[in-house]
Amino acid sequence: MVKVVAICGSLRKASVNRALMRSLQPLAPEGMEVVEAPSIDLPLYNFDIQAKGFPDSVTALADAVRGAAGVVIVTPEYNYSVPAPLKNAVDWLSRVPNQPFQNKPITLMSASPGALGGARAQYHLRQIFIFLEGIIVNRPEVMVTMAGSKFEMVDNAPTVLSDQPTKDVVKQNLAAFAKLIAKMG
Ligand SMILES: Cc1cc2nc3c(=O)[nH]c(=O)nc-3n(C[C@H](O)[C@H](O)[C@H](O)COP(=O)(O)O)c2cc1C
Repeated sequence: MVKVVAICGSLRKASVNRALMRSLQPLAPEGMEVVEAPSIDLPLYNFDIQAKGFPDSVTALADAVRGAAGVVIVTPEYNYSVPAPLKNAVDWLSRVPNQPFQNKPITLMSASPGALGGARAQYHLRQIFIFLEGIIVNRPEVMVTMAGSKFEMVDNAPTVLSDQPTKDVVKQNLAAFAKLIAKMG
């Protein structure tokens, strides 16, 4: 079994990106287990905190990433970029010893009610992971546009991804991710 860890870039309960993240397991190739990462609700990065020792919440997230064969990031776009809690989490992990994203296969997904599906946040993440030497799946990209209409809804909250063309592209993305993981050994 190849274990991959999934990080959601949104903190809110009724997040459409969290719903997408929780829809991944049945779309993953055989032999891939998708496990939710510990929370990214971390203190704001501050070297003064780091100097006293990394918070347990940071260490837990770093260990989860280090221990996984790959990372799936499922995130909204905020103001044409990466949401602050996710950027903050990446900043914390970039400072821990044995930087966990280095040479780590990563796949990016995003969902938005808008027409671009969070594309701009994904491209900013790609830029960030150049420096951190994460290895990102290139194709196919998963940008879920008009996301409100693509999930089953329960009590006004999105639950399971129901749009078949989107499910197909997610499946293809996770298959490419599995290939990248196998190639990275
Ligand atoms: C601060 C803020 C900025 C946003 N900026 C964008 C944006 O640049 N592009 C976009 O497509 N949606 C933007 N949105 C709308 C989000 O895509 C939408 O709220 C989405 O549901 C958030 O993801 P979540 O449901 O996983 O929390 C923004 C929302 C917030 C709260």
